[in-house]
Amino acid sequence: PRVRHTADQETEFLVVANRLPVHLEAHGTAEPRWQRSPGGLVSALEPILRARRGAWVGWAGTTGDTPVAFHDPDLRLHPVPLNESEYRDYYEGFSNATLWPLFHDAVAPPEFKQAWWQSYRQVNQRFAEHTAAVAAPGATVWIQDYQLMLVPALLRERRPDVRIGFFLHIPFPPPELFLQLPWRTEVVDGLLGADLVGFQLPGGARNFLQLVRRLHRGESVAGGQPTPVLGTVRLPGRTVRAGAFPISIDTAGLEALAHSEAVRERAQRIRHRLGGSRKIMLGVDRLDYTKGIDQRLRAFEGLLAKNRITAQDTVLVQIATPSRERVEHYRRQRARVEAQVGRINGTFGQVGRVPVHYLHTTVDRTELAALYQAADVMLVTPLRDGMNLVAKEFVAARPDLGGALVLSEFAGAAHELPQALLVNPHHLSELEDTMAAALDLEERERRHRMRELRRHVRERDVHHWARSFLSALSEGGHGAVPG
Ligand code: ADP
Ligand code: F6P
Repeated sequence: PRVRHTADQETEFLVVANRLPVHLEAHGTAEPRWQRSPGGLVSALEPILRARRGAWVGWAGTTGDTPVAFHDPDLRLHPVPLNESEYRDYYEGFSNATLWPLFHDAVAPPEFKQAWWQSYRQVNQRFAEHTAAVAAPGATVWIQDYQLMLVPALLRERRPDVRIGFFLHIPFPPPELFLQLPWRTEVVDGLLGADLVGFQLPGGARNFLQLVRRLHRGESVAGGQPTPVLGTVRLPGRTVRAGAFPISIDTAGLEALAHSEAVRERAQRIRHRLGGSRKIMLGVDRLDYTKGIDQRLRAFEGLLAKNRITAQDTVLVQIATPSRERVEHYRRQRARVEAQVGRINGTFGQVGRVPVHYLHTTVDRTELAALYQAADVMLVTPLRDGMNLVAKEFVAARPDLGGALVLSEFAGAAHELPQALLVNPHHLSELEDTMAAALDLEERERRHRMRELRRHVRERDVHHWARSFLSALSEGGHGAVPG
């Protein structure tokens, strides 16, 4: 991105997230370079902020010198510094080895460490301070995700004049799980600093309201509200509302890209390179143990072993973005996935013809759209996922009505996309059967399903998500709401 340094200015509409939409990446001894940040949060919020000309408070992805505020070019970015020990304790530790696994059904055991919690508190305080310094009087501040759950209350202490929204991108677990957290009361009180707390699904909002009741943090009342707000918490002097706002994608932007000559040509080339008539199965994920990559590989291996497919007729392309690489569960997950890929290719491959193409890398948007377009079957098989934008992106990239979507019932997206082939990724033979069925789907049915899926992602795009959250936010409390 082009960067232009500017003096700090106060802002009417602010997004606060752990990461900025771009981060500084080291390149040996050369100057670090700005790269797009990974993950669904950035994919969703970047088009919103650009359209509304807001500002973004977040970490620049480096523990070295932090740049001053700059424009990129129609977005104002306010970097928040993290040092090496905060990166380890707040980001890798409390955010990604305590909260992330706990909120994803504890599919990996969460670790509870006092030092990590202290760092989380300290960094949340810093985010609140930076935000308080740049928010205009009466501004609207939209805080994002599990890394910053204390910021709503910390910001309210400093700036009672601003309107505060909070949105959680990941699942909010049932009270029985959440209550394991030694600092459960502090975290809930942090969230209750917001005027509106948003979740992906109604179940998450209900879990939160139940939890508030269990912890006696105010009088929580479910229902009695027009959706998407599902309940309120009455606190002394004010109320907090909770609701469900399923996040989405910039459908029009991706559709336009999908129609471009560059993408169509690249998709054809990919098909050709992978072997003309071979069916292509595709996975695109951050390399995260919640994404069910190993389950998917095991099912693919099962289909090969049973001769239901062969390396001659089918290929699996798995693109895995490097993610949280020093965290133990992520290291193990990478080793597991890479061993599986090696075993499958070693067992079922031939010279010049391997069944799995595995790339441990980020790809650019054109390449990603071309991959979506080249695929016959998209595999989205998380064990638990707040939403999963890859599923929606695949649909948006298929104006040709081609391709079948295999989607885990444990992804938030499954609630909105029932025309996908839904599957329980824990059930290996069901996963094998569903993958095989997707490969053999009759054309009429495939087109019919895709048409319905596309109707949904067009109507419910990311702009709809932002409008619905921000208008619910504007209905209570005070502060400016961006148009
Ligand atoms: P999460 O937020 O957990 O990473 P999502 O599926 O909601 O999961 O969002 C992932 C986002 O990251 C999507 O916008 C997707 O296009 C992008 N993405 C995932 N893997 C890659 C990759 N290898 N290269 C480029 N973008 C990727
Ligand atoms: O909600 C998904 C999410 O965890 C975001 O909060 C985050 O920005 C993204 O995935 C990528 O993860 P990370 O920032 O840890 O690289």
